[in-house]
Amino acid sequence: MCGIVGYIGNQDSKEILLKGLEKLEYRGYDSAGIATMNQDGVHIFKEKGRIAELREIVDGNVEATTGIGHTRWATHGEPSQLNAHPHQSVSTRFTIVHNGVIENYVQLKREFLQDVELKSDTDTEVVVQVIEKFIAKGLEVEEAFRQTLSILKGSYAIGLLDEQNPDVIYVAKNKSPLLIGLGDGSFNVIASDAMAMLQVTDQYVEIMDKEMVFVERETVIIKDLQGNVIERAPYKAELDASDIEKGTYPHYMLKEIDEQPLVTRRIIEKYRNENGEITVDHEIIDAVNASDRIYIIAAGTSYHAGLIGKQFIESWAKIPVEVHIASEFSYNMPLLSANPLFVFISQSGETADSRAVLVQIKELGHKSLTVTNVQGSTLSREADYTLLLHAGPEIAVASTKAYTAQLAVLSILAAVAAQGKGRTLEFDLTKELGIVANAMEVLCDQKEEMEAIAKEYFPTTRNAFFIGRSVDYYVGLEGALKLKEISYIQAEGFAGGELKHGTIALIEQGTPVIALATQEHVNLSIRGNVKEVVARGANPCIISMKGLEEEDDRFVLPTVHEQLSPLAAVIPLQLISYYAALHRDCDVDKPRNLAKSVTVE
Ligand code: G6P
Repeated sequence: MCGIVGYIGNQDSKEILLKGLEKLEYRGYDSAGIATMNQDGVHIFKEKGRIAELREIVDGNVEATTGIGHTRWATHGEPSQLNAHPHQSVSTRFTIVHNGVIENYVQLKREFLQDVELKSDTDTEVVVQVIEKFIAKGLEVEEAFRQTLSILKGSYAIGLLDEQNPDVIYVAKNKSPLLIGLGDGSFNVIASDAMAMLQVTDQYVEIMDKEMVFVERETVIIKDLQGNVIERAPYKAELDASDIEKGTYPHYMLKEIDEQPLVTRRIIEKYRNENGEITVDHEIIDAVNASDRIYIIAAGTSYHAGLIGKQFIESWAKIPVEVHIASEFSYNMPLLSANPLFVFISQSGETADSRAVLVQIKELGHKSLTVTNVQGSTLSREADYTLLLHAGPEIAVASTKAYTAQLAVLSILAAVAAQGKGRTLEFDLTKELGIVANAMEVLCDQKEEMEAIAKEYFPTTRNAFFIGRSVDYYVGLEGALKLKEISYIQAEGFAGGELKHGTIALIEQGTPVIALATQEHVNLSIRGNVKEVVARGANPCIISMKGLEEEDDRFVLPTVHEQLSPLAAVIPLQLISYYAALHRDCDVDKPRNLAKSVTVE
């Protein structure tokens, strides 16, 4: 949520900043801006809308070798040119970009800025004005920055320029992600995500919460808030430039849908030992088996994956599992068992709601495991253990390959935990996941059919329902989320048996009802539910699995192991959503109001 970049070196910074911001647009795209600094001072260009719109107003003649940039997902203040970052202090000496939420900005305003007329509605501007107040009291910049940071409450990743010192970018973070990228000795960069600056470097240094960093052309100095210098070794970002490009695809979402067979096969390989058996770190197996109850914490699509993960773990390893929406957990904390294990599922590893729970349960002394796609992400660093998704960067805002990767990794965790408890699965998971990967490939090749369904069912409709029983219900929740996220059709997922307890009142002539029928034990009942809605005018679209199909089914999935069917069944739903959005001229990769990495609570 909001993306930050910065460059200090010998080249003109504009293009590097703009390219970096384009790579961060998934973090927010309602407004954007850059500030570059040269001997004439600081030059700010900012605009409402996308980076493409920002590009149009950047003056190509202004050359400057130091700069910072920002792409915004509005929290405080509407998306507008005025509220877009960078923001400046009254004297224009200081210029800031910020990601996060300053929770005490009203108090800071009251305490320090009674006489300052703020130009924007943002919490961010308060920070830069407070820094200037400390300077007015006679503090040096470093001390003013340090004192300001020490009174901020909330989350921040900050890049700050001082017009009087073009040789440094002041940087700090707390809870929001920010990395330092190391150049060849003549430049350095900052970025919310390594992806943004892969164009110039693959060497990165992590910044920890409550550290200040002084990024100069040739050096990077990290200090804690007490002023002690901290040494930290860089790491190589294991990202391939082609991973973050669309290639020949029209949209990242379509590319990422197509990558699912490959990701599933990669996961099988990554979690296999030298004997070909699936495994995870021993520490993780021990932690799972030592727990008497697992609490899965997640948001959005990851929450939907958690619901299916619960089925895997409970039915194979026989460990009770609760699945909780991260943002609700703190207020409605259940009575915890004696030895809980918390499992955080998060594609980005940065979701603030999930992180808030992690902080809370760590204070209570409980163990935690993060299942994430991003090594080194906040949730990964702060949890006791991590399981990686190995899905490669997911850039489209609507999550697809990360979801199926989450299911695959959770199935492996469940199977390994079952083995640890001396239980033998009745099937070979590796083999069955291989069959799933093949089925995914078949499904990805049926795009024309999916496009036809999208055109037939969602040309102008305002709403749609997804129904299923057992795991099909959970897949339906994810299908509905995909459709609403990117096509803006109001779509809801329901348990087949629950629909008639109220929601069936919404069924009208022609209302699309997508019904999933992949589970033998509920096949007849879900078909009964379809009859109920058809009797009230619904336009049914039954997606069944081979072996369970009936004559009027609209689409039949290839056979996969029944318990792994969500990995396959979600693919037609992803593709149908994609084509529905496409035919409605929606921005598939960057749907309105959303952001991919939600770093505010
Ligand atoms: C946002 C995204 C969703 C995502 C959710 C959780 O709302 O738009 O696609 O599922 O965050 O994100 P996480 O990174 O924690 O899985």
